[in-house]
Amino acid sequence: MAEDADIEATLTRRQFVGAAATSAVGLTIGGSDANAAEQSAETTTVSLTVNGTRRAVVVDGRTSLLDMLRENLHLSGTHKGCDQGACGACTVLLDGRRINSCLTLAVMHEGAELTTIEGLADGSKLHPLQQAFIDTDAFQCGYCTAGQIMSGVGCIREGHAGSADEIREWMSGNICRCGAYPNIVASVQRAAKEV
Ligand code: FES
Ligand code: FES
Repeated sequence: MAEDADIEATLTRRQFVGAAATSAVGLTIGGSDANAAEQSAETTTVSLTVNGTRRAVVVDGRTSLLDMLRENLHLSGTHKGCDQGACGACTVLLDGRRINSCLTLAVMHEGAELTTIEGLADGSKLHPLQQAFIDTDAFQCGYCTAGQIMSGVGCIREGHAGSADEIREWMSGNICRCGAYPNIVASVQRAAKEV
């Protein structure tokens, strides 16, 4: 009888392990299906004009405009510094206005017109502010430079480049860790006279 009880216990354990394994596989497959459904539900196609070209980009609903530019469109000229709106390295022009692209979601900008540093030049002719940055040596490491230039273009367009003090005030969101500020301000002042 004791032997029968042992066999019964063994079978019960085997049945239990088998049932648990089946259940685990079922859960895994179910989980995978659920993830796939969830991912496709979160993915959206955003159509927008980037540097004059119409683009349709498939993005996760949580993708920032900055990540869409860098990861989906491979426009890596727009830099990621802080990724939380504190440094200005990611500045682009959205419908003509400067914006920190790390602080906004790509899906919010269906139909928008976007200009990045890659779209600023006119063919081989640099934008006056790009040229001014070169001529006045307005960068050292260059990490902040694309954001500074895009912000400077916005600053000039907004009419906030009337004096060095005004430029400092209206570009205060763009941080330069190398401290190239005097030459950056000089570049914006110079370009403001040309555009
Ligand atoms: S990376 Fe966007 S503000 Fe710093
Ligand atoms: S040039 Fe180095 S951070 Fe501005």
